[in-house]
Amino acid sequence: MNAKTQGLFFLVSLSLLCNAHGKSSDTADSLVLGCGWESSSSDADGRKWEPDAKFITGGNSASVRAQFQDPSLVSDTPYMTARIFTSKATYKFPVKPNGRYFLRLHFYPALYGSNNAEEAYFSVVANDLTLLKNFSASLTCKALTQAYIIREYSLAPSTLDSLTLTFEPSVGFAFVNGIELIPMPDMFDTVTMIGFSDQTVDAKTSNMQTMYRLNVGGQYVSPNNDSAGLTRTWYDDLPYTYGAQSGVTNQVEKNVTIDYKDMPASVAPMDIYSTVRSMGNDKAINQNYNLTWVFQQIDPNYMYLVRLHFCDFYYTKPNQIVFNIYINNQTAQSEADVIAWSGGQGVPTYKDFVVYVVDGKGDEELWLALHPAIETKPEFYDAQLNGVEIFKLDMKKSLAGPNPKPSDLYLKDEEEQKTFDDDKTSNANVIGGAAGGAAAFGAVAAICIAVYQRKKRVTGTESHTSSWLPIYGSHTSASKSTISGKSNASSHLSSAAQGRCRRFTFAEMKHATKNFDESNVIGVGGFGKVYKGMVDAGTKVAIKRSNPSSEQGVHEFQTEIEMLSELRHKHLVSLIGFCDEDNEMCLVYDYMARGTLREHLYKGNKTNLSWKRRLEICIGAAKGLHYLHTGAKWTIIHRDVKTTNILLDEHWDAKVSDFGLSKTGPEMSAGHVSTVVKGSFGYLDPEYFRRQQLTEKSDVYSFGVVLFEILCARPALNPSLPKEQVSLADWALHCQKKGVLEDIVDPHLKGKINQESMKKFADTAEKCLADHGLDRPTLNDILWNLELCLQLQENMDNGGSSTHSRRGETNHNEANARNQNTATHNSNRSLGSESDVDVNDLNTGEVFSQIVNPKGR
Ligand SMILES: *[C@@H]1O[C@H](CO)[C@@H](O)[C@H](O)[C@H]1NC(C)=O
Ligand SMILES: *[C@@H]1O[C@H](CO)[C@@H](O)[C@H](O)[C@H]1NC(C)=O
Ligand SMILES: *[C@@H]1O[C@H](CO)[C@@H](O)[C@H](O)[C@H]1NC(C)=O
Ligand SMILES: *[C@@H]1O[C@H](CO)[C@@H](O)[C@H](O)[C@H]1NC(C)=O
Ligand SMILES: *[C@@H]1O[C@H](CO)[C@@H](O)[C@H](O)[C@H]1NC(C)=O
Ligand SMILES: *[C@@H]1O[C@H](CO)[C@@H](O)[C@H](O)[C@H]1NC(C)=O
Ligand SMILES: *[C@@H]1O[C@H](CO)[C@@H](O)[C@H](O)[C@H]1NC(C)=O
Ligand SMILES: *[C@@H]1O[C@H](CO)[C@@H](O)[C@H](O)[C@H]1NC(C)=O
Ligand SMILES: *[C@@H]1O[C@H](CO)[C@@H](O)[C@H](O)[C@H]1NC(C)=O
Repeated sequence: MNAKTQGLFFLVSLSLLCNAHGKSSDTADSLVLGCGWESSSSDADGRKWEPDAKFITGGNSASVRAQFQDPSLVSDTPYMTARIFTSKATYKFPVKPNGRYFLRLHFYPALYGSNNAEEAYFSVVANDLTLLKNFSASLTCKALTQAYIIREYSLAPSTLDSLTLTFEPSVGFAFVNGIELIPMPDMFDTVTMIGFSDQTVDAKTSNMQTMYRLNVGGQYVSPNNDSAGLTRTWYDDLPYTYGAQSGVTNQVEKNVTIDYKDMPASVAPMDIYSTVRSMGNDKAINQNYNLTWVFQQIDPNYMYLVRLHFCDFYYTKPNQIVFNIYINNQTAQSEADVIAWSGGQGVPTYKDFVVYVVDGKGDEELWLALHPAIETKPEFYDAQLNGVEIFKLDMKKSLAGPNPKPSDLYLKDEEEQKTFDDDKTSNANVIGGAAGGAAAFGAVAAICIAVYQRKKRVTGTESHTSSWLPIYGSHTSASKSTISGKSNASSHLSSAAQGRCRRFTFAEMKHATKNFDESNVIGVGGFGKVYKGMVDAGTKVAIKRSNPSSEQGVHEFQTEIEMLSELRHKHLVSLIGFCDEDNEMCLVYDYMARGTLREHLYKGNKTNLSWKRRLEICIGAAKGLHYLHTGAKWTIIHRDVKTTNILLDEHWDAKVSDFGLSKTGPEMSAGHVSTVVKGSFGYLDPEYFRRQQLTEKSDVYSFGVVLFEILCARPALNPSLPKEQVSLADWALHCQKKGVLEDIVDPHLKGKINQESMKKFADTAEKCLADHGLDRPTLNDILWNLELCLQLQENMDNGGSSTHSRRGETNHNEANARNQNTATHNSNRSLGSESDVDVNDLNTGEVFSQIVNPKGR
């Protein structure tokens, strides 16, 4: 399995994405060094990075600058420069004897002049402790599909008053972008080993590497929000939960205060203890499942310290909930009772366990599972966890493991990317393609923060997260296509694309938009603004203009032109042309007079779409997606299907927009491509999120959310609702299963909607949200079902009421339609590749209408 690429941790500094204003919480003794920098400089978080030169004590080193800034790096600091070492070299840092320290190393494997980080393999040794050996930052980043990585170590106290950090190339050169040395209290003790109750491990004197640090049931906590100035990063645990049942999350009530009592605040910040994941309140269900997390990329033959953080702010007495804790299928703790441990409601505590992971089948994992201890007859059958940290303990003075292998699919994908870019010299594109990973978790986590805290502002300088947020979703394709004003992106375009698309002059753009007059702005996105305009004296267009200060997204710009120029379909927004002149970049699209679907569902006064019209819109959008999946030369997965990406023209025809995130696959014969998680929260396929395997079915899931959104006229995520209702997908499925979906149907539709039609529609949407991609219908099936819904509604609108009597017939027709359609579908997958004139859909609409319409037969 290609589990290696999947959501592993690596302390990617999300802080870069979340512009927490406020000063750095670094204490006076901390060293925060930007390697290769000549003067101090601040990152997006306002943390100051000092130059590193004065700590270098030997060896050949040079300061170099990266040639390309990955879009996930929102600030120059510290990643855009590196210090490279062509021979063994050392840093010497002053430290307090007998103090424990966090050491963080930052690596951004890029092209530094003639030094390509892909060719760098090196070791890093701290005093006599080997941290990294034959380490390739490039391979590691690729395996994690991230642009950069951070390694965090906790160095045991020593009697020395300095720390010697040695970099030694084994192949090529060694490099580092940032070094942090942060004093920390000694927070470890003697720990019992799981399975060997008579054996203990002295964690006090152990060196460690942080593997995972999660805020269970809560959201990302940035370094600035960590306690005691330790600048740790805590991540959301959701991606690591396992199985269909991931329990429920909860948050401390206002009337309960978290009281640390004797426990030092440095153990973990308040945020960790004020959120929890527990099993839920169904006794019968809880009895039959384990609340489970799975952690991957665990190197065997090491011991791991697992620290579990608990705080019960809900129950008040011992024996109300009692549970067993299993680590790697062994009992780590039986009869855990948080209140009994901590002494009361709202009092945090933690427990440490050490587990030895033996060399097994290869894909080493660490399993953590909780289950109610029924034998103790607790009042409730439940289990809970507030936080978890996993540290690798050093063995024989080493913490190094082998380089992970990028999955085959990833490598294949990268190869595709190279050919697709039609540009063999530009390494930038490859890195750009590989890069999103760092942003992936980042953006998702940032969204959680925004959603749950209901903050209006996610980022400052960083803009692309905003386009992920349905809440902030802007008008007209809030695309991730941040367009660079600095580079001549069109020079990288394939000549085919240049031929298909018209090149506008900047003067034309200015004229079209009345010199980019504010009154013509119809939307704002990460890349800048969208204007409506008029070209050729009469053709209405929408013009995306790059934000001249944005350095990001040349790659996205090219991708969008390449793809859109090749795709022509009635239900896709067409790219008419582009402009690339005087450091200005614009994309010119068809103008969609009626804006986004979302604003017609639940915004302002416009909410007046009949059921029939909604169905027609769904059908249009489904055709557009169907074409992307099967009709074009490449299989294209949209990746960001949502109601703000479905636009309406003056005839209410739906068109799918925004391919900035799209991904092409070869023939998809492998069934999926492994890639980074992108998309909008609330629409994200849980399977994709967990496995990072992208298939057409990920779009199907998102489309299912869109269908429910259309039926219920409410956003995919609405944080102002009670917790269980926040996510539309969860809530609608819940109501559907309970048979009370009608309660949440858009009141505008009450009495005007044919019950059969609604039922069919809801069943279809439900199937789209199936947990496993394989169980979800194809767009072909969806289209068919939607056509049937429309037919049922039209029958009612035309006065026909005997839908029941036709059931047999329609079912029969269903089979026919299916057969026919499969035939159409298989006969030639490469429709559209022959010419780029309007290749319409696969005529599925006509086929359906003929067969389904009883009057037509
Ligand atoms: C996180 O830190 C920022 C400033 O550093 C602060 O404004 C914000 O309230 C903090 N968030 C939480 C949840 O404490
Ligand atoms: C806090 O409020 C909730 C309901 O709002 C109540 O059920 C609970 O008993 C209260 N807890 C305390 C300690 O007052
Ligand atoms: C634990 O058990 C599960 C299910 O029985 C199994 O899939 C998994 O591989 C086991 N994990 C370990 C580390 O043995
Ligand atoms: C929970 O996990 C433990 C340890 O792996 C296992 O023995 C037990 O059967 C599991 N229980 C359920 C209900 O899956
Ligand atoms: C170094 O790592 C690479 C990539 O994982 C591996 O192919 C090579 O054999 C390693 N070399 C040594 C000396 O371990
Ligand atoms: C960008 O590249 C194109 C094609 O190579 C060229 O015609 C155009 O003049 C360039 N524009 C700028 C601003 O350099
Ligand atoms: C909504 O309707 C009211 C009265 O009909 C009008 O005053 C208001 O401007 C409208 N708002 C929008 C956003 O169209
Ligand atoms: C909604 O549309 C119907 C028919 O198109 C019209 O009769 C009705 O007045 C409209 N309602 C509003 C609030 O605009
Ligand atoms: C589809 O059409 C293309 C172009 O005409 C042709 O090369 C290809 O062989 C056809 N494929 C099938 C499966 O018929």
